[in-house]
Amino acid sequence: MEIREANESDFEAVVSLVPTQDELFYVYPKGLHPFTVDQLRVLAETRKELTVLVEGGEVIGFANLYNVEAPKSTFIGNVVVGGTERGKGYGRRLISHMIAKAFDKYAVDEVRISVFNDNTPALLLYASMSFEPYAIEERTDPSGSRVALIHMSLSRNAKRA
Ligand SMILES: CC(C)(COP(=O)(O)OP(=O)(O)OC[C@H]1O[C@@H](n2cnc3c(N)ncnc32)[C@H](O)[C@@H]1OP(=O)(O)O)[C@@H](O)C(=O)NCCC(=O)NCCS
Repeated sequence: MEIREANESDFEAVVSLVPTQDELFYVYPKGLHPFTVDQLRVLAETRKELTVLVEGGEVIGFANLYNVEAPKSTFIGNVVVGGTERGKGYGRRLISHMIAKAFDKYAVDEVRISVFNDNTPALLLYASMSFEPYAIEERTDPSGSRVALIHMSLSRNAKRA
C-alpha cells in the first residue's frame, strides 16, 4: 500500500471511486452527478495535498485539504475509499496520513472534518480517531430532505486514539 500525491493521470480512477449521487453528496456535496474529471480538475484548483491511496497498482482512496488557514486550522475533504475496499482499514490509514500532513507540514492547531448525519461509517471512523463535534449546520440533500452536516475537530493537543 502506498499513499502519495495525486496527479492528473489519477483523476479518472478517483472519479470512479464515487459512482452514485448519494456518495457524491457525502464526498463532494457541491458536485454534480455523474462526477467527472473536469469537475475534479476545477475542484483541485481550490484544494491542497491531493492524495491517493494505491494498492496493487490501483487507486482505491482519495482525500485532500481545503480552507487551510495555518496556523489555525484546516479541513480534510473529499474522503473516499472505493466500494469493494471498504472495511479493511484503508480509510483510517488515509485519515491518519492527512492528519499528520496538516499538523506536521502546515503546523495547524486544529484539523476539521465535516460529515452528514446519516453517514455512520464516516462518523464512527472520525470519532474513533478522537474528532469531536463542534457545530451542526442544516443542508438539503439531492432529494430535497433536510439533513445535518456535523462539523468535527481534532486539536493538536488532543490525546489521539
Ligand atoms: C468513510 C470511509 C472513507 C471509511 O473507509 P474504510 O476504509 O471503509 O474505513 P476503515 O476500514 O478504515 O474503518 C475504520 C473505522 O470506520 C468505521 N467504519 C467503517 N465501516 C463501517 C461500517 N460499515 N459501519 C460502521 N462503522 C464503520 C469503524 O469505526 C472502523 O473502525 P473498526 O474497523 O475498528 O471498527 C468509506 O466508508 C467511504 O469511502 N464511504 C463513502 C464516502 C464517504 O462517506 N466519505 C466520507 C465523507 S465525510
